Amino acid sequence: MCGEGSVGVSGPSVNSVGARFYRMYAYFQFSLKLWWSARLVDGMADGTISDRKADHLELCAEGDVGFRETSTLLGCVRLVHDALPDMKASDVDTSLTLLGKPLRAPILIAAMTGGTEQAERINRDLAGIAEERGYAFGLGSQRAMHVRPQTASTYRVRDVAPTALVLGNVGVVQARGMTTSEVRLLLDDAGADALCVHLNPAMELVQPGGDRDFSQGLATIERLVEGVGVPVVVKETGCGISRGVARRLRDVGVRHVDVSGAGGTSWVGVETLRAGAAGDEPSRRLGSALWDWGIPTAASVALLAGPGLRFETLVATGGVATGLDAARAIALGAHATGFARPVLKALTAGGRAAAVDLLAGVEAELRAAMLLTGSRDLAALRRAPRVITGELVAWMSGP
Ligand SMILES: Cc1cc2nc3c(=O)[nH]c(=O)nc-3n(C[C@H](O)[C@H](O)[C@H](O)COP(=O)(O)O)c2cc1C
Repeated sequence: MCGEGSVGVSGPSVNSVGARFYRMYAYFQFSLKLWWSARLVDGMADGTISDRKADHLELCAEGDVGFRETSTLLGCVRLVHDALPDMKASDVDTSLTLLGKPLRAPILIAAMTGGTEQAERINRDLAGIAEERGYAFGLGSQRAMHVRPQTASTYRVRDVAPTALVLGNVGVVQARGMTTSEVRLLLDDAGADALCVHLNPAMELVQPGGDRDFSQGLATIERLVEGVGVPVVVKETGCGISRGVARRLRDVGVRHVDVSGAGGTSWVGVETLRAGAAGDEPSRRLGSALWDWGIPTAASVALLAGPGLRFETLVATGGVATGLDAARAIALGAHATGFARPVLKALTAGGRAAAVDLLAGVEAELRAAMLLTGSRDLAALRRAPRVITGELVAWMSGP
């Protein structure tokens, strides 16, 4: 099965007694928090946004929230070996310009967090890594900052990442209720270069107390593209973007997308576990049924890179776990690749050094794949010969 290699997340294993003790302690704290959050039923009050973000961090760092059956299908992309690369390994150039800023490698540390003390530490660590290594960095949803301005400092990373490409973040449903100037204020406060507008209807449907009104989404995006004054990247959060949705986005002026496809972190899965812990049986059952819902990352990238759409920026996030995955996504047409949970897991398990180690490994594998396909730069990798196998063939010939 071509998808097998891409399911799940690899990260450093930390087996010391201390680390095991820390994990047990973290689980204990987490159970207490879930017990407490079961009492906070509406999910919308000021405090619960931070509680939910804290649950998300713990579940994603420690819990079993990967897709179960659906893979990214990146394993269906076989890059064709070049036995005569005709260049030095040091000739390989992974640099690019993304959203107007130079990056040393096509790596985005994708949107994760903000709004809590723990989130602030994570944001600062990850933004610092992005600065040092020439990656892009995505802030988590700035909704908490909008509702509780006192959490704004948890999103401020410019002192540790003065030059990195930093992406702000709001959900389309929340943005609908905000003026364009309010969104702009959030971006200015964080010093963001661009805005990610995230789409997450499947997750919201399963989330206890989640949003159920998804109307006016496209109109909201159009308004932001026209008026917010920085590039707008429309991103999913693990269910992928279809060609039909991509066309509608193009029609309202969107030039930048992050597919955030299926096969990595299942956000339905995250909310299913939260619903179960909160004793919300209908949501838990719905979540169990939808756990694997979504368009695999490779399929979404291939569909959006196909004829007629021509996005200026196409980011492949969602279960991208290795440099080989990244190379395959770029060969399908992505400009850059995003990593969320793998980085969080590494950071949680082994601190900043482990996160750097993971990303350095990704870069090394990507460089090797480029050399071995005779691709001197990313433009060449995007044209590199590849063989598409298995289920991905069916997706690519679909609508
Ligand atoms: C702990 C965590 C929190 C996240 N929070 C956000 C968020 O606030 N906004 C957003 O657009 N995406 C958010 N995401 C989704 C990721 O950006 C990404 O689209 C998704 O997890 C798929 O990537 P992965 O398989 O590498 O985790 C979050 C992901 C994680 C792991």
